[in-house]
Amino acid sequence: SDDALVIFTPSGKRGHFPLGTPVLSAARQLGVDLDSVCGGRGICSKCQISPGYGEFPKHGVTVAEDALTEWNAVEERYKSKRGMLDGRRLGCQARIMGDVVIDVPPESQVHKQVIRKSAAERVIAMDPATRLLYVEVAEPDMHEPTGDFERLAIALRDQWQVEDVAADLAILRRLQPTLRKGEWKVTVALHKGNHDSRPRILDLWPGFHDGAILGLAVDLGSTTIAAHLCDLRDGRVLASGGVMNPQIRFGEDLMSRVSYVMMNAGGDVEMTRVVREALDGLAQSIAAEAGADPASIYETVVVCNPVMHHLLLGIDPVELGQAPFALATSGSLSLDARDLDLKSVNPAARVYMLPCIAGHVGADAAAVALSEQPGQSEEMVLIVDVGTNAEILLGNKSRVLACSSPTGPAFEGAQISSGQRAAPGAIERVEIDPVTKEPRFRVIGSDLWSDDPGFAAATERLGITGICGSGIIEAVAEMRMAGLVDQGGLIGGPDQTGTARCIAEGRTHAYVLHDGSADGGPRILVTQGDIRAIQLAKSALYAGARLLMDEMGIDHVDRVTLAGAFGAHISPKHAMVLGMIPDAPLDKVTSAGNAAGTGARIALCNVGARDQIEATVHHIHKVETAIEPRFQEHFVNANAIPHAVDGFPSLA
Ligand code: FES
Repeated sequence: SDDALVIFTPSGKRGHFPLGTPVLSAARQLGVDLDSVCGGRGICSKCQISPGYGEFPKHGVTVAEDALTEWNAVEERYKSKRGMLDGRRLGCQARIMGDVVIDVPPESQVHKQVIRKSAAERVIAMDPATRLLYVEVAEPDMHEPTGDFERLAIALRDQWQVEDVAADLAILRRLQPTLRKGEWKVTVALHKGNHDSRPRILDLWPGFHDGAILGLAVDLGSTTIAAHLCDLRDGRVLASGGVMNPQIRFGEDLMSRVSYVMMNAGGDVEMTRVVREALDGLAQSIAAEAGADPASIYETVVVCNPVMHHLLLGIDPVELGQAPFALATSGSLSLDARDLDLKSVNPAARVYMLPCIAGHVGADAAAVALSEQPGQSEEMVLIVDVGTNAEILLGNKSRVLACSSPTGPAFEGAQISSGQRAAPGAIERVEIDPVTKEPRFRVIGSDLWSDDPGFAAATERLGITGICGSGIIEAVAEMRMAGLVDQGGLIGGPDQTGTARCIAEGRTHAYVLHDGSADGGPRILVTQGDIRAIQLAKSALYAGARLLMDEMGIDHVDRVTLAGAFGAHISPKHAMVLGMIPDAPLDKVTSAGNAAGTGARIALCNVGARDQIEATVHHIHKVETAIEPRFQEHFVNANAIPHAVDGFPSLA
């Protein structure tokens, strides 16, 4: 017969094709995900496939040795110059001559799956907004006068089905020399566009180009700005990092920053300037850490709470400080990076901001919803994203509620006497022996505990510099379990507690977690003020969660997910001992790391996820903690450790 059966794995897609059809065309026609940057010209090698030969009883075919055409000159040349794994062929060159089973290896798929690290490991399907496309443009013709750009647009339409492409002046100015240098062959970095923006050429190179296309996923918090640098070709995280939000000097929490704007003319302009500078600096430092050029960052996704959102955009946040808490816009935004003064990223780079849910519940909560998918859950799940402002989501398949709660910066190590950002040298894990009252701890940057042999040598270079958010949560919970702190949060003196580590500090007491004299570092104390700050923070968090439970009409949850941008994962047991979260079976309390940051990464790597969250936010019902009288009542009861009224049977 003059056609052949082609079966693609792993997709299982199959179809009959005329003999002589290139494998790439068959894949295209069946909708099989097979990559190509050069459009089938044998230049990019992205289309590599592995044909299988012999008997395939599962598929009911026998594949003959000559099911594909022999190697042609293009394949031979590619193999000798660049090398190819055994058994691989170029899908655009090999043609179908008989029934065949063809495997598409993961690296040849555009929509590669990237495992994201989290409590519940899930995969991100790659479908980034920006990708490289190689095109061959018609040469100019005096008899048919058209511009070089118009002919490039036609080539993109005919060769890549890109309609109505746009390019900035900066690109137009480089177009003519680039086209001529590449002899009418160029590679463009193309941004897909979306419902409110046209596809856009962000960059171009003569000939075939296979350089880095990077993206930055940013979780812009009130205290900490955290970011991941990702390779948009395969989703790999190249580097992660964070800096303190420099707006802290204008006010530690959101409402004090809004007050600063109300009381100081131009205060918002100043806060906009410093946060943009910090973001730009972070892009530079993360790129440097990855050994990459920040100019290869073509896309940035930002998630943040509404006040951070407005201040980053240069919108006065005053309306967010008073009922009815109206946002200037709650929709997602697609912007030019230069509109946000991001100077070190590529000059044509784009910025995508996730939609806000409402007044106090921002794009960071939307990102948590995107990462943790409460609306898909059978069980009633409570998700708390711990930060200076906590994002709290409660729900299951039938209904999802959200609120935010002003916990203050204590959980991020701010307002804590020895507190610091989660960085190497910070204490992140703490245990206190209930009998001897002696502590042991671990610092970020070392796997050893402080009583392990070799700890001093291992931490000599790092130093033991302070205590981060997860460390202070564990320290206070351990102090409570060891009887160093009572239910009201008062630290006992040496006589009551039986340990000389409880020292007098003014009229109160403090616990010496680490006496830095031996290593020449600072003395790290947990003071009465620290305990008070943690009590305020955890009461606000708990009260927010309880408010959502009241609204849902439930008195217990099936599952709790703890998330936070800071430090190591929060310990579920310590969070419950402290009374940060309502009771739940301990094996149902998991830690998801930086869920908002993960949500940003998902939106960076997959444009479909952007559409999904834009649709989902409309179904999340927001509860306003600021005007809810029961919030205060819950808050007061939650001040005790773990709680004045509510029980924690799961801890017994
Ligand atoms: Fe580029 Fe085959 S598609 S080499």
